[in-house]
Amino acid sequence: MRWLKLLLAVALALECASVRAENGSAGWLRYAPLANAQPYQSLPAAVVPLDRSPEVQGAARELTLGLSKMLGHPVLEGDSFSTMPEFVIGTVTEMEHRFPQWKPSAQLRPEGYTVATVHDGGHIYWVIAGADVRGALYGTFHLLQQVAEEKDPASFLTVSSPAEQVRWVDQWDNLDGSIERGYAGPSIFFANGHVRTDLTRAGAYARLLASVGINGCAVNNVNADVRMLTPEMIPQLARIAAAFRPWGVRLAISVDLSSPQAIGGLDTYDPKSQKVIAWWDKKVDAIYAQIPDFAGFVVKADSEGQPGPSKYGRTPADAANMLARALKPHGGVLLYRAFVYNHHLNWRDPKADRGRAAYDIFHPLDDKFDDNVIIQIKYGPIDFQVREPASPLFAGLRHTNEAIELEITQEYTGQQRQLVYLVPLWKHILDFDMRAGGKYTPVKQIVEGRSFNRPLGGFAGVANVGLDANWLGHPLAMANLYGFGRLAWNPNLMASTIAEDWTRLTFGNDPHVVSTIDAMLLPSWHIYEEYTGPLGLGTLTNILGSHYGPDPQSAEHNGWGQWIRAEHNGVGMDRTVATGTGYIGQYPPEVAQRYESLETCPDDLLLFMHHVPYTHRLHSGPTVIQYIYNVHYAGAQGAANYVAEWKSLKGRIDEPRYEHVLRLLTYQAAEAIVWRDAVNDWFHAQSGIADAQGRVGFHPNRIEAESMHLDGYVTVTATPWETASGGKAVACVGRMECSATTTLTRPAGIYTIGVQYFDYRQGVSIYTLLLNDKMVATWKADNTLPGNSISGDTSTRFTLSPVELRPGDVLKVVGRPNGGEPAPVDYVEITPAPSSSR
Ligand code: GCU
Repeated sequence: MRWLKLLLAVALALECASVRAENGSAGWLRYAPLANAQPYQSLPAAVVPLDRSPEVQGAARELTLGLSKMLGHPVLEGDSFSTMPEFVIGTVTEMEHRFPQWKPSAQLRPEGYTVATVHDGGHIYWVIAGADVRGALYGTFHLLQQVAEEKDPASFLTVSSPAEQVRWVDQWDNLDGSIERGYAGPSIFFANGHVRTDLTRAGAYARLLASVGINGCAVNNVNADVRMLTPEMIPQLARIAAAFRPWGVRLAISVDLSSPQAIGGLDTYDPKSQKVIAWWDKKVDAIYAQIPDFAGFVVKADSEGQPGPSKYGRTPADAANMLARALKPHGGVLLYRAFVYNHHLNWRDPKADRGRAAYDIFHPLDDKFDDNVIIQIKYGPIDFQVREPASPLFAGLRHTNEAIELEITQEYTGQQRQLVYLVPLWKHILDFDMRAGGKYTPVKQIVEGRSFNRPLGGFAGVANVGLDANWLGHPLAMANLYGFGRLAWNPNLMASTIAEDWTRLTFGNDPHVVSTIDAMLLPSWHIYEEYTGPLGLGTLTNILGSHYGPDPQSAEHNGWGQWIRAEHNGVGMDRTVATGTGYIGQYPPEVAQRYESLETCPDDLLLFMHHVPYTHRLHSGPTVIQYIYNVHYAGAQGAANYVAEWKSLKGRIDEPRYEHVLRLLTYQAAEAIVWRDAVNDWFHAQSGIADAQGRVGFHPNRIEAESMHLDGYVTVTATPWETASGGKAVACVGRMECSATTTLTRPAGIYTIGVQYFDYRQGVSIYTLLLNDKMVATWKADNTLPGNSISGDTSTRFTLSPVELRPGDVLKVVGRPNGGEPAPVDYVEITPAPSSSR
């Protein structure tokens, strides 16, 4: 009986431990106590670091900490003369010295590692050996993650080397502490024009990065601040480098090419000018004097207003080589971004095409770049859209180092308010076969340097983590940061493997939790694409502002070149060689042929490549317009399903993360409806073609606020019109309180009431819902959405379910404006409550 009690107590302690409250700050490095630590009891209980490097010392600390927490017994640092079984961490050379009988089973590339067992003096030692100290650190994290996932100890033994040499994240942090396209709080590096005094989070970030093999971080915005290179800033940057160093993450920065003039007092920044060259040489020497392992520079030039070599009639190669030569003696690299284009294109010119720009500019320079220059190429030719073809520039450079630029921060993919697992998108691009020279040349092998025999290459991911405890705002968005690192190490991994690993590490090994979250992550890119930008249209968002809510029209009639060319008869950019902009001709012949012909162009890129009538029939069956309507309904349904899927996890994961994700998914389900209706209504208005299934523009369950009895509320128009149901909403202007009232006519039954309203970034309006004069709900509009107007950026839903209703019931929405937010209301929607909620 006593035993039983004890067992029960242990089981309970474990149970509580596995659902203990968490805020996400540990990311995937939680080291939660294992449900069954038995298979690992034979592992050594001591760890010996073989050298004094910060990386190996850090690895030893991590291993003792991680194993102690997971296994529930102390694992301590041992000494190198012990004859007890130990984990031994160090470089291959050190290990061969310690165990002369041991050799790694395969050759390691730089930063690679092996985990092996060695029999010595009658004991079994676990060897974690790196090609160098970074490798030893990566090997340690590998082992810890295997334990956390409760894998069979036999599977710990491995040999692994990174595919890519450059595995960097970029942060678009500004010196004032804001982050361009950051959705998770202020910068962890900067505040008020300086590097933060407390860099604890920078160190914690580097630890997370190291655990997935990231070896560099460019800490500031590509729209670089010239103050980054002032003499006062360099020692401050050296403090960030010091916080990164134990984790093997090297510091890089973005620089503004005009710095020699802007802060150096020169009268020019011409990359061919001797004094400019000398200025950069001296500046780089000064950086290395304080940061000896400085990784290099990232450059955005001649792009979106950034200064560049074109001012002096020089090329990107002139500018890149000038900087690369300054970095070269110190071992630094220069990442020059191919995101160079004219944002004043002529909309009326049918041949104008922003998609062509990178190839047109960089391809002619192919053999002009020094060997420590890497051209950093966004995955698609436009700008991180929900779907784009792989940039043709990947195959357009054969004598130049290349890196792929991916966007971890979800600028055009839901801004971490919506679940979008981006690894399948990235895989799609990485696996894309360019058929260069008629041979298998997937993008992943090009950026590895393998296809064209280049000495350098890699991955740059724009991460934009912030001070939010959970780093990226949405707990599930961390799968993208994790996945980026895993792919940069091994781009052959499958999206599903990465999802499963991340879920196990982040939420534990309960099979139901793992299968549910994976089943949500894997289709989420496609679901988001369905409701925000199908058929290669790109994300149909407000491209002139927030890049968040729906606004297809904003793509047209301006110089930015994200055109979709939607008119009454048809839609899509004609990029063919035959009749269009000729973009397709930038691909190697086999790929070009496939895209050029309507017969072979894949449906999912059709409107990126071709302009077709709305009645054009897709390979998959429906017409273009009917497909647009259908997938918006399918996508919104997919987003709605997440909520029920997630609810099945209640009690199986900790409450704070459960509740946080539930709130976000509930919001997303409603936002997907806003997108669905806005895009469908807009295309309906453009094409004049009705939805064959009669859904578009027909909402029998809605009562528009503007048609209710209004007391104080006035009718207003949404901008753009399609982001409010029926184009209109009501706002409470100049009053303390307004109301909208309706008498219900639905048959008696159990219903869900949804109130669609607009939650500005500013102000916290208070809403109250009354049924027959009795308050049934009240809520605050206190979300921080990206807008202060009636639009798809701010449209939000409050839901009450289940509610018993009878014909003649009087429903009243009362709004109390606050702080410039006029408590706007769009409509009330009354639908039968799902039986599960009754
Ligand atoms: C996008 C993004 C900008 C960013 C730019 C870039 O256009 O919206 O904020 O500066 O990409 O990658 O340089």
